[in-house]
Order: sequence, then structure tokens, then C-alpha cells
Amino acid sequence: MNITLNANSPLLQPNFVFGVATAAFQIEGAAERREPCIWDTFCATPGRIKDGSDGLVACDHVNRWRDDVELIAALGVDAYRLSLSWGRIIRRDGSINTEGLNFYLQLLDALKARNIKAFVTLYHWDLPQYLQDNGGWLNRDTAYKFADYAKVVAQAFGDRVYSYATLNEPFCSAYLSYEAGIHAPGVQNRQQGRQVAHHLLLAHGLAMQVLQQYAPHAVNGIVLNFSPCHPATDSAADRRAAKMADQYHNHWYIQPLLEGGYPPLLDELAPGDKPVIQDGDMAIIAQPLDFLGINYYTRTVYRANSKGWFSDVPPTTPPLTEMGWEIYPQGLTEILLAMHQRYPLPPVYITENGAAMADSLHDGQVADDDRVAYFQQHLQATEDAINAGMRIDGYFAWSLMDNFEWAEGYAKRFGIVYVDYQSQQRTLKHSAMALRDLFAGRKK
Ligand code: NOJ
Repeated sequence: MNITLNANSPLLQPNFVFGVATAAFQIEGAAERREPCIWDTFCATPGRIKDGSDGLVACDHVNRWRDDVELIAALGVDAYRLSLSWGRIIRRDGSINTEGLNFYLQLLDALKARNIKAFVTLYHWDLPQYLQDNGGWLNRDTAYKFADYAKVVAQAFGDRVYSYATLNEPFCSAYLSYEAGIHAPGVQNRQQGRQVAHHLLLAHGLAMQVLQQYAPHAVNGIVLNFSPCHPATDSAADRRAAKMADQYHNHWYIQPLLEGGYPPLLDELAPGDKPVIQDGDMAIIAQPLDFLGINYYTRTVYRANSKGWFSDVPPTTPPLTEMGWEIYPQGLTEILLAMHQRYPLPPVYITENGAAMADSLHDGQVADDDRVAYFQQHLQATEDAINAGMRIDGYFAWSLMDNFEWAEGYAKRFGIVYVDYQSQQRTLKHSAMALRDLFAGRKK
């Protein structure tokens, strides 16, 4: 199965960036060579990870990075999006782990040698446990520690990095981690969730100031996840619920960045649920962005609940992915254009898009036609947004390879490359071949 776009598609123009993405905790392994992080603690807590697994070995990428860079290069991508493990760079005592730093320096050099742009995310959820022991993201000081870490990185990496993202999906680090309680550290408390969201955004703003100073050549920004929020029925209550969810889950993060203020829903929070915001915080948060990364997977449907709040309605009608997420490509065009119309956006990259499917390896082949179709539809949806007048500079498939899917463990496979976790052998799925052929067909 192929992925086909019109010959004159904006996605096939020479400047459009195609890449694949990963995150440190999900692939690196070699946990003994870094500080423990909150996800190590979470994994060690019975019942937290569906298959009882952890990130101690994962894809063993720290030991196999040379082969993995060859794999990335063989796909013909323009860019590779990775994240750094904070605790592989800064030790508990505040000193720099030079072995860890050198791992990233070598990796970045290898990418550069192959002309692959490095899109580096500073924080993809693996907060060092030593910071959690001090309150983690509930402690305002963690935001300042993050800026210190950003400075170490920007000074060490120089021109090896094409683009820095401060945070990946702060919605997850705040809401899933501190309200839904399904991500590390597994708390269920609305006030704490809002406070953590605020400290994350503050951390972003402080780190942006550092990046502007120490990595002015790089394209610096943040990665947010968006999901269109649709009402379950046409009732006024459900429509209101969907609007509230949109403010709470989508605009809560982008509005402070681009307008320096939270959505009006802030005023509807019970006094005890409101975050503490210090004078000057919103101005720090609203630093100019060189780019906005948008991650998209699915839409979400909401209904009003008895508490005057909103509840999501899990999808039941197919097509669904293995995560139980509805395949809804038109939602990508919808949310992109909604954000484009609502805000003066900086250049946008789709920094993640992909699907977990029921893959199986037979005779050395993974015939993931469903994933190929997913990419085809979502690339088309991206093209539709560009044709409607929006600037989108690139698209990253999630993920380069199967990896540790957080609370789902290893059972859910998002890779375009299949990983046999026993042998650590990597096998290109048909989706990887389809993307490779698409990239190779471009006039560059
Ligand atoms: C978003 C996250 O950034 C990534 O870590 C995760 O694996 C994918 N979504 C799929 O759930």
C-alpha cells in the first residue's frame, strides 16, 4: 500500500519538513546511567502500568543509537524529533553528568553528519525523582531549575540543534498526571493540576528566555496536544460542556502563551481550585515563539455531568485504534484551522501524529495497512489546512519505533518500525516503507 499526494501538494515542496519522533523515557533504557525519574517510581508502583512493565531497558536505544540513526537516515527523513532525559544530564547534586551529555552530543553529531535536522524537546514527562522529592511541578522552584537545565543544554549543544521545544504536551503533565491520576505521579486533585499547569507554563517562559539568549539560531517553541471537543448531543448543556472542555484542555495552554491570560473558565473554578499566579508570571509565559508544535491523534466527545462540569464519552463506533481512539482525520483540519482563526500563530509543525494498531510480524513483514491509511488521511488533512491558508512547516510521524506507551506499557505499538523486545531487532513495517517512498518521491 502506498501513500499518495498530488504532485503539486504543498507537502511535497522542498521546504516542507518530514520527520519521525520519539521520547527519551520511551526508548532509551540504560536507566542505571541516569538519575531515576517519576516514571521509574510510577512503574515500580503495582497496578500503575497495564502490563507491569517499566522503562529500564525499553528499546535499548542508548546502546543502539548508532544503528537507530542509520535506520532514521534510511527512511529519508529531513528531521528527527527526540527528547532529552533531564536526569541523564543533571545529577541529583546539581553537577553535570558528562557521560550522559556526551551520549546526546554524539547522537546529535551523527544526525548532523547525515543532514538530519534535530528537533530537541527538553521535557517529555520524565522529571528527575530528586526534584519530585522536593515537590516536583507543584514547587515553583522546579520552573527555575528547568531554566538552569535549559541553559546547560543550549550551551553544550551549540549549533547541533535545529529546533528546541521546551515542553511536550503540558496538558498530560498537568491533567493526566495531577487530575486524572493516570500518569506519573498519579495524583487526583484539581487545584494541584491547575497549579502544575501554571508552573509548567512558567517553566516554558523562563526556558524560552534562556533559549533566546543561548540558542538564538535555533527555532524555539513548545509542543501542545489538541483535540477538537464535540458535544455528545445537540442539547445546550452538552454544547456548553464541550466548550468548557475546549477551554480546559486546549486553550488553557495556548492562550497564556499567545495572549498572556487564561481562558474565562478560570473564573468559574471554585476559589480553592484556582492556581496561585504571581505578578509578572503571565508576561514571562507569553514569550514570543518561533514555532508551535501541534500533536494530534483524535477528537473527544463531551457531555454535561451532574456537577455542572464536563465528562468525556469514550468512542464506541469504529474505526478505532488499539488505544480505543476514534480515527477522525477531519478533526486535524478542524483544530488547525480553529487555532489559526483564533490566534496569530507562529509557524506550525505537526510534531506528532500516528496510531497504535494490532501489528503482527509474519515472515519478516508487518502489513500495517490500517496505519498506512491513517497516515494517508492525516497527511491529506494537513494539506487541507495549508490549502485553507494556514502555514504549516512540517509533519512528524509518531513514532519512529514501537516503544513504552506510558500507562499502557509495551502492549500498544505506535511505531512505523516494529521492535521485538526480546531480541531488540527492528523491522520496517509497511507504513515505514510507504513513508520512505513518499519522501523519496519528492523533488529536493
Ligand atoms: C503523545 C505523547 O507525546 C507520546 O509520548 C505518546 O506516546 C503519544 N502521544 C501516543 O499516546
